[in-house]
Amino acid sequence: MQFKLNGKSVDLDLEPDMPLLWAIRDQAGLTGTKFGCGVAQCGACTVLLDGEPVRSCSIPVAVVSGRKVTTIEGLGGKSALQKAWIEKQVPQCGYCQSGMLMAATALLARKPHPTDADIDSAITNLCRCGTYPRIKTAIKAAAKL
Ligand code: FES
Ligand code: FES
Repeated sequence: MQFKLNGKSVDLDLEPDMPLLWAIRDQAGLTGTKFGCGVAQCGACTVLLDGEPVRSCSIPVAVVSGRKVTTIEGLGGKSALQKAWIEKQVPQCGYCQSGMLMAATALLARKPHPTDADIDSAITNLCRCGTYPRIKTAIKAAAKL
């Protein structure tokens, strides 16, 4: 299975129905993307597929053949959102945060200055620690950077 992972071509020997999340974590060794519910509900496993947020636990890897996948590692730790995340001290336990950042990355690419309503409708990921207000603050701070 060939696809681009964080800008690099990868060629992995995978069953086509393997969830993309398994390919990313167990085959490619990128463990920043998390497993939460496994049924496309929580968003902990969110990655970008050709720039759009997808729930990698519920996508067969065959779907990404020849396409571009971006994970939290692909943001490089220096994006405006990641800086804002640190400045606003967003994470609590941190488990949901990779997925949150990927969803927020896609949102800002589409809407550089999102409203509260834009954020509410785009970020459907779940956070058991209730960091939603800080996430909103950080997205707005990043939009100004
Ligand atoms: S682990 Fe994929 S949506 Fe929850
Ligand atoms: S920071 Fe703990 S689940 Fe979101």
